[in-house]
Amino acid sequence: MKTKIQEQFHKLFGEGASLFASPGRVNLIGEHTDYNLGFVLPGAIDKAIYVAIKPNDGRLCRIHSVDYNETIEMDLNGEKPTQQWACYIYGVVQEMHKRGALIHPFDMVFGGDVPLGAGLSSSAALESVVGFALNTLFHLGFDRAQLAKIGQMTEHNYVGVRCGIMDQFASLFGEKGKVIRLDCRSLECTLEPFDPQGCKVVLFDTQVKHTLASSEYNVRRAQCEAGVAVVLKHVGGIESLRDVTMDMLNSYKSEMEEIVYRRCSFVINENQRVMDACAALEQGDYATFGAKMNGSHEGLSKWYEVSCAELDFLADTAHAHSGVLGARMMGGGFGGCTINLVKAEAYDDLLSEVKDKFAHQFGKAPRIIEVNISQGAHQIS
Ligand code: GLA
Repeated sequence: MKTKIQEQFHKLFGEGASLFASPGRVNLIGEHTDYNLGFVLPGAIDKAIYVAIKPNDGRLCRIHSVDYNETIEMDLNGEKPTQQWACYIYGVVQEMHKRGALIHPFDMVFGGDVPLGAGLSSSAALESVVGFALNTLFHLGFDRAQLAKIGQMTEHNYVGVRCGIMDQFASLFGEKGKVIRLDCRSLECTLEPFDPQGCKVVLFDTQVKHTLASSEYNVRRAQCEAGVAVVLKHVGGIESLRDVTMDMLNSYKSEMEEIVYRRCSFVINENQRVMDACAALEQGDYATFGAKMNGSHEGLSKWYEVSCAELDFLADTAHAHSGVLGARMMGGGFGGCTINLVKAEAYDDLLSEVKDKFAHQFGKAPRIIEVNISQGAHQIS
């Protein structure tokens, strides 16, 4: 892929481009906890978005998307572009401007191998690689945490999704073979080796594109905020669901809508599951780790209601297989993939069972995606 990006740049804009990459991510556990300032456990993957970039002497940027096979001209100080893909790049530039950066017109070619709409954060990979490339090229001096924030605010202000920080953080901070234990409030993180001996991680992609994701995502976020507002009337100093215990939530349950109660209890329990899963990881106890993943799926499906029939079917099939330690839907939901922790000796059997059963039910096999935990944003040349 990176060769293709370089060749395309050469063809369209000539020599001398610098090449950068930033990956997609998986998340082992901790879903919809990031914007509630809780805990997550993602890792960067060996699938990335690549950018070839070089400053130009003109007044406008020239940007080519390999995946959409489309070239546009963009005024750095002009209106938001009409193409959705270009809004990510425009948004990163605007968020950098707001923070005082001086960015000159540039030529850019980008594309990658992060499957789109599969819940692997291709959009965060794009924001991260654009931010990282501009930061390096124009010596802007942002650190990686600031670049993650710039990517997150691009989603909020130029795409319309009020996402948390997890995806951009994982894309920028990932390291080979390590998962990131991130506290989304303090942004403190530790990189933990993730090497489940005798096990494999595999993703099953429903290939259902999560069209509901952005609107329903914002609804979930608002429901969590509504729960916090109720508790805050009684308990001072509450900033987010991170500060709310199940006891507090139960005390003021009668003052909130049932649905708000359900959403908030999921988040409080999910945070606890991340902590329990991390403790299990430290002990090398993958059976407990897997059980927490299963609990996460159950909560996402029944309490947070962000799953769909295809995701539930994949998770149920995996849960019923004796070689699976844990399985759950991953990412924002309403489509995309499940993440499965499976014993190596059961891997082939699980794959054929899942393919057959899913095809029988939905008329088409899921896409199997193998991932390795890899390096975050970096310059290639
Ligand atoms: C999307 C968002 C993340 C996070 C997940 C759910 O991937 O971009 O910030 O909220 O959904 O955990």
